[in-house]
Amino acid sequence: MRQSSLVVVANRLPLDDSAARDGACEWRRSPGGLSGALHAILQQTPATWVGWDGETGLARVTDIGSVRLRPVTLSAAEQAGYYEGFANSTLWPLYHDAVQQPVFQREWWETYRSVNQRFAEAAAEVAGKHAAVWVQDYHLQLVPRMLRELRPDLLIGFFMHVPFPPPELFMQLPRRIELLRGMLGADLVGFQREQAAHNLAQLAQKLLGADATDDAITIDGRTVRTGAFPVSIDVAEMRTLATRPDVVAQVKQLHHDLGESKRVLVSVDRLDYTKGIEHRLTAYRELLRDGHVKVRDTVLVQVAVPSRERVESYRDLRDRIEGEVGRINGEYGRVGEPAIHYLNQPFSRSELAALYQTADVMVVTPLRDGMNLVAKEFVAAREDGAGALVLSEFAGAADELSGAFLVNPHDVDDLKQTLMRALEASPEDLAARMTAMRRHLAEHDILAWARAYLTELDHTGRLARRFIGRA
Ligand code: ADP
Ligand code: F6P
Repeated sequence: MRQSSLVVVANRLPLDDSAARDGACEWRRSPGGLSGALHAILQQTPATWVGWDGETGLARVTDIGSVRLRPVTLSAAEQAGYYEGFANSTLWPLYHDAVQQPVFQREWWETYRSVNQRFAEAAAEVAGKHAAVWVQDYHLQLVPRMLRELRPDLLIGFFMHVPFPPPELFMQLPRRIELLRGMLGADLVGFQREQAAHNLAQLAQKLLGADATDDAITIDGRTVRTGAFPVSIDVAEMRTLATRPDVVAQVKQLHHDLGESKRVLVSVDRLDYTKGIEHRLTAYRELLRDGHVKVRDTVLVQVAVPSRERVESYRDLRDRIEGEVGRINGEYGRVGEPAIHYLNQPFSRSELAALYQTADVMVVTPLRDGMNLVAKEFVAAREDGAGALVLSEFAGAADELSGAFLVNPHDVDDLKQTLMRALEASPEDLAARMTAMRRHLAEHDILAWARAYLTELDHTGRLARRFIGRA
């Protein structure tokens, strides 16, 4: 296998099943922030991507453009213990403020550990001498240390896309010391928000007795740098899509189908309990009940793409959401005029770009979210400078998108009031807010993120110049 000087290691390869099955192997990404983010920067980069080939296994894995793919295949038992179990039933809920009770099953740990070891070995095999290896997310938290043991010559980065919790929560974790030591095998640990780096420093002091500040942790005679690098999106891609004639035509069609005179609220999420979909539906039902919104003048479009459906809590959530949408439509809808359009299916990038432009109010209200790229995609798509963004304070994006209507989604009254403020805001107010957000995004796109991270990783800017261009 050819060796690369940049290796990305992520749970998933960035392909979805249908793209690979027909053999076309175009660069079609699976829904989820991580692939979206990395997809944008790696297309022109001579790198290798190490990742799982998915629930059903890809029919064929070839290189995509300049990126070589190195699949890691998991057995059904490994998927259950590593992906559905320790990653998504233990770490995921715990790292998201335990909004859903984390499940601790002892037998999952060994599978998580051995799968991490397999990823580390695959990365060690494809990394050239002194290469940079960039490990992604909570699925692979043990990989940095394992990789350092296998290949001390490598420069190792780790980026956590999801929140990293405060000590009170992290301390609940069985195997907390191994998890902490695992990520501290990196030279640079990056997070979405500064609070996360602070949490790591406190934990390293408390659990490992390490010398730790919010920027650096000294352990085993090595210094691990830490910091916040808020991830972003391919702004140029979204802007281009938004102005494409077929997308403009789709926007027109959507307005027509939804009702020309209607105010349109849009939400786009993976169907995940962290996304606050139920709280949002409660708020919307109460606005209908109280007569603040009426189906003849307002409609909600809720896209909820299926996610992690083998995990019981996700299946239960889907049942509850579908029940609630049915109840709301049953009670408030009229013939040909539902209160909510609910779509449980994947959308193409161009369909998403059209939907974002159809929104009078984009409603992004996770209970906790590392970043939330949907909020940024919405802003990037609004070439018209119109539209309101209602955004949870608990999404990383809230630190940056100052023009949003910020809301505490746990507080249904606040949600209702904020939705009404956004619906009733003047066009001038909305334009000023949107201009500020678009200005910020233009300078903080995905390339800026990768450049900032890689520059900090090697200190010299050489890596960033080589892989991202324009330092
Ligand atoms: P997460 O990483 O938790 O999934 P983000 O909001 O950061 O959340 O990223 C979600 C990504 O998935 C976005 O890039 C969004 O465009 C994409 N996405 C969301 N819903 C769909 C859908 N129905 N079809 C295709 N992609 C989707
Ligand atoms: O951002 C968190 C994350 O787990 C990403 O790693 C991934 O892109 C996304 O959510 C989707 O999750 P999954 O890979 O489990 O479908």
